[in-house]
Amino acid sequence: MNATVPGPTYEEMLNPGARSQALFNITWRGADHRIRHIVLPKELTGVEANIVVLIGRDFPSGSHKVGPAYATLMEGELAGEIRPGENTVIGPSTGNFGIGVAYVAHLKGYPAIVIMPEQMSEERYQRIRQYGGQLDLTPGSESDVILVLERTEHYKKDPRNKILAQFELLPNYRFHRYVTGRSALEAAAPYGNGKVAAFVSAPGSAGTLAAGDEIKARYPACAICALEPKECSTLFNNGRGTHRIEGIGDKMVTLIHNVLTTDYVALIHDDDCVMGLELLERRRSLVERLLGRPRGYLDALEGVLGISGICNILGAIRMARYLGLGAEDNVVTIATDGMDRYPSVLANLEKRRGPLDEARLSASFEEIFRGGGNGEILDVRPREQKERLFGYKEEVWTRFGYTHSYLEKMKAQSFWDGEFGKIPAIDDALPAARG
Ligand SMILES: Cc1ncc(COP(=O)(O)O)c(C=O)c1O
Repeated sequence: MNATVPGPTYEEMLNPGARSQALFNITWRGADHRIRHIVLPKELTGVEANIVVLIGRDFPSGSHKVGPAYATLMEGELAGEIRPGENTVIGPSTGNFGIGVAYVAHLKGYPAIVIMPEQMSEERYQRIRQYGGQLDLTPGSESDVILVLERTEHYKKDPRNKILAQFELLPNYRFHRYVTGRSALEAAAPYGNGKVAAFVSAPGSAGTLAAGDEIKARYPACAICALEPKECSTLFNNGRGTHRIEGIGDKMVTLIHNVLTTDYVALIHDDDCVMGLELLERRRSLVERLLGRPRGYLDALEGVLGISGICNILGAIRMARYLGLGAEDNVVTIATDGMDRYPSVLANLEKRRGPLDEARLSASFEEIFRGGGNGEILDVRPREQKERLFGYKEEVWTRFGYTHSYLEKMKAQSFWDGEFGKIPAIDDALPAARG
């Protein structure tokens, strides 16, 4: 058996010291030790609330999804279930988690196979290959993740394969509740009243949404909003279409989604996000002119947003409006990855939609950043809504072998708090294992 390559604890990912900097650098903090974030200019958002966007691009694999990939592997090693030299790690994904798996597996000395749909952005496949990961592609695109899960079942037959099952395993929940949740609280603290009035995140695995559980634990009045593509409105009304927002909208309630703390579901049109990225990334000077601001005013946004990041920003703006939030209120959201994943997608935009002249782009800006009605926001706090979402969850996960009694336990907040409460024991055991 080969030696395990040491990695950081949850606490070291939240607060890296000198030693843990050498341990993979999986953290929301920059070199200055501050949480990497941007507060969007109010001229851009059109709302008074402060919209605080955590920036995931600067994690080592180019998105924060490396965190759950590492946490799942680390917990598997600690439990003695995954060993270098004996196992291959399998990453069911739509891209960014797979890139994280390939990156972490490479550092920790495991072969990695990433199972993902064949119609994701080309840049995703390149990164996985670059880290030495092998690809196993399934038909379709983002909303065909169920096919990825079905293919994963095939790998389970060989006990040497270890599945880093982001949709099912709780290290994803633990990473985001502890590391992302506390980072979000810290990022928002200097602004407005220092609290968080709303947390907005578009779920893929719904790991990131777990940050909302930690924010709600601190500020119980915080509204947690899950966003979906209008074209694939599964949580909203069991809609199941195809869409263009890579990383989110996977046609299911994932096992690790704590639906108890999700207060609202809001819909965002998929192509608004692609066009929104075009506007903020490649047509910034036009947007600056539309806002009556000098050239360079929006330069801080360069490169740090991807398509789902735009979705989250549009969701944050709409929730701020819907909740009537003011200048003292903070809305936190996430930019999971950056522009480096999407040149091929933007190159395709003009081919799909025809020439984008100034008049058309200006109208699009108005529509995308100022539009969106309250009819596309659903309050899922009532009990019957929770029951509906539990039902969707059961439908998927009993098919993959989860028992009714396990799913029943997930209907109590104590289940989630109990899972979160395992972190101190893990964080004690890991340094002992590192020696
Ligand atoms: C670009 C992008 N945005 C958003 C998400 C959703 O994050 P989560 O899986 O934590 O819900 C993902 C997940 O892979 C992603 O790749």
